[in-house]
Amino acid sequence: MIAWPDAKALFAAAYEVKTRNVGRRVSMRGLLEIGNVCEKNCHYCGIRRGNAEVRRYSIGADEIVAAARWAYDAGYGSLVMQSGELSGEAHTAFIEGILRRIHEFGGDDFGITLSLGEQDEETYRRWREAGAHRYLLRIETSNRELYASLHPADHSWERRRDCLRTLRRCGYQVGTGVMAGLPGQTVEDLAADIGFFVAEDIDMIGMGPYIPHPQTPLGKGIPWTPADAAARLELGLRMIAATRLRLHDVNIAAATALQALEPDGRERGLLAGANVMMPNITDAAHRADYQLYPGKPCLGENATLCRGCVEERIKSIGEEVNWGVRGDSPHFFKRGTGQ
Ligand code: 5AD
Ligand code: SF4
Ligand code: FES
Repeated sequence: MIAWPDAKALFAAAYEVKTRNVGRRVSMRGLLEIGNVCEKNCHYCGIRRGNAEVRRYSIGADEIVAAARWAYDAGYGSLVMQSGELSGEAHTAFIEGILRRIHEFGGDDFGITLSLGEQDEETYRRWREAGAHRYLLRIETSNRELYASLHPADHSWERRRDCLRTLRRCGYQVGTGVMAGLPGQTVEDLAADIGFFVAEDIDMIGMGPYIPHPQTPLGKGIPWTPADAAARLELGLRMIAATRLRLHDVNIAAATALQALEPDGRERGLLAGANVMMPNITDAAHRADYQLYPGKPCLGENATLCRGCVEERIKSIGEEVNWGVRGDSPHFFKRGTGQ
């Protein structure tokens, strides 16, 4: 059995480790959800291919570049482009072209992170050469059997793990993470997840609580009460804290899923050891169509409003915002492969 420490003491210990290693400054990334079309059918996700109730959208290249420009001018040192998983030459070239256009005005001062799923090595390499330098790809769980129960048979845990290794070879800062509170997941699984981050020498962590989505096979049978939300939030925060205690110098995001459960969820993530926030910069017209889980915050808000709101929230807990810098993972540079 793994002992279950007092939450307050756990968060305080993690906050102390964070303060000593990465400071009390929050690195910001503007999160742009460039499309919700997905070739995959993960059992937990609201935009899975099989969810016919989703209105699908894809933002065009000019609109993506304009949003990136807005983020750059607004002081975001870094941009995250996320979408459902797509593959093929047309998609690879589309992203490649956008990266080159963003790199033209942002240069190396503007960090570009991709979160576009599993791809082959050639694609990862082309995107890296076109200007992306970080990649987020969650392993979802380090337990292969649990992974199999959450995905259709043609989704492979090994392939996902191998993608993380390929990304490292291609020179990216590599981010991964898991969902906490999945059906059938044990505390031992979560402890093993942290072991996976260590073993794979991960630079950035983005993880959050699993939130059942009623339009998905996994989520539709799961009842929902305010007490469940509180328990899921606490588990997510505990995972952040435990990860910070083990991995001192990585970037850890306070995921939006925390805020879906409680209005101040992300601030609580920062106080439990996270040091990155990813405010949504997607146009309000598309936000409601990108719901991986229900309860997503800021659906009616625009990018300017969220920027100001997040800054106030960060100040309210006595931390500062790292505007205008890339905010790279210190861990990546300590490894000696940084550039
Ligand atoms: N609850 C919480 N997180 C989810 N994700 C997808 N569906 C859900 C959900 N129902 C997360 C997955 C994925 C990331 C983009 O969103 O971890 O990797
Ligand atoms: Fe697609 Fe990602 Fe959702 Fe899976 S989790 S269905 S790959 S968007
Ligand atoms: Fe979007 Fe507060 S973060 S309105």
